[in-house]
Amino acid sequence: MSFLSVNDVTVRFSVGSKFAAWIKREKPPILTAVDGISFDAERGESIGIVGESGCGKSTLAKAITGLVPVASGSISLDGEELSGKRDPALRRRIQMVFQDPSSSLNPSLTVEQMLSELLRVHNIVPRDQIADRCVELMDLVKLRTSLLEARPRRMSGGQRQRVGIARALALEPDVLIADESVAALDVSVQAPILNLLNSLREELDLTLMFISHDLAVVRYVSDRVIVMYLGRAVEDRPTSEMFEDPRHPYTKALMAAAPKFGVKKAPGESALKGEPPSALNLPSGCRFRPRCPLAAEICEQTEPGLTGPSEVQRAACHFAWEDEEISS
Ligand SMILES: Nc1ncnc2c1ncn2[C@@H]1O[C@H](COP(=O)(O)OP(=O)(O)OP(=O)(O)O)[C@@H](O)[C@H]1O
Ligand code: SF4
Ligand SMILES: [Mg+2]
Repeated sequence: MSFLSVNDVTVRFSVGSKFAAWIKREKPPILTAVDGISFDAERGESIGIVGESGCGKSTLAKAITGLVPVASGSISLDGEELSGKRDPALRRRIQMVFQDPSSSLNPSLTVEQMLSELLRVHNIVPRDQIADRCVELMDLVKLRTSLLEARPRRMSGGQRQRVGIARALALEPDVLIADESVAALDVSVQAPILNLLNSLREELDLTLMFISHDLAVVRYVSDRVIVMYLGRAVEDRPTSEMFEDPRHPYTKALMAAAPKFGVKKAPGESALKGEPPSALNLPSGCRFRPRCPLAAEICEQTEPGLTGPSEVQRAACHFAWEDEEISS
């Protein structure tokens, strides 16, 4: 069994005004934000999740972290089922680093107070070792120990993000989920943070889930990439293979829409146009059909499954593997 196993996970939200629905004597609409996502990750592996805004990346991360309930499917870590109520020791093993560290850091506390409080509340080390552990955490995220006395608002964006990472590491997780962790940072500060996450992964054997709408960022840190579209995984491949030879028209369009990353547009191929349809009103058949330059009759009738030559080479398009033998 894999270390982290996400199996057919679906997350739904009830949306719109409950009052308006009540007046009309209808049930409020239900939006499926994550729709049957499955993948496995090993210890020390880095999985990138990429897709346009609203495709369900953060909701998937929150479901894995236990911050939103799973409507169906299952998640397990190291053989332990996570879908139900998690005990605190199990919850600690998956931590998230958010986009904007300022909003998740208490401005009135110094870095040391913040880290000490976490270590104390979660009983991570004996009290007489808390100060030493704070220094170790600062070393891990490559921040000067003198910054333990500083308050986050006096720090730079990059330093604050490092404090956010130290906070997550304080709980000694096995899985670290970085959700748009460098999106708010200046480009010059992004690479050092990505390098830090990569070296922490190696040093601590962390499973890293890296979420971004930025293909270049995901490419830089991930062994494998899952492309999401309207709640579903549409392509799941080893990173180098996916960037050299994308198989799903949506992945191709995402790459074509980001020419600065050196991916040339194929002749006659259009870049990504328009917006995804509402998840409340999906088209029949393939959900990418309204935007797909290759859509054919079968695409309207049948939703393609996520299949491919192996478990880690999958794409959800009727024509993705026309030139290959498919095993599943
Ligand atoms: N708490 C919630 N209640 C209702 N709908 C929600 C909730 N959280 C997310 N959604 C909806 O679920 C869908 C997926 O949202 P999610 O935030 O997971 O997307 P995302 O891929 O992380 O987008 P972004 O790149 O903008 O962060 C969206 O349609 C969003 O509006
Ligand atoms: S199944 Fe059809 S509509 Fe969907 S991505 Fe493939 S070609 Fe396009
Ligand atoms: Mg998000």
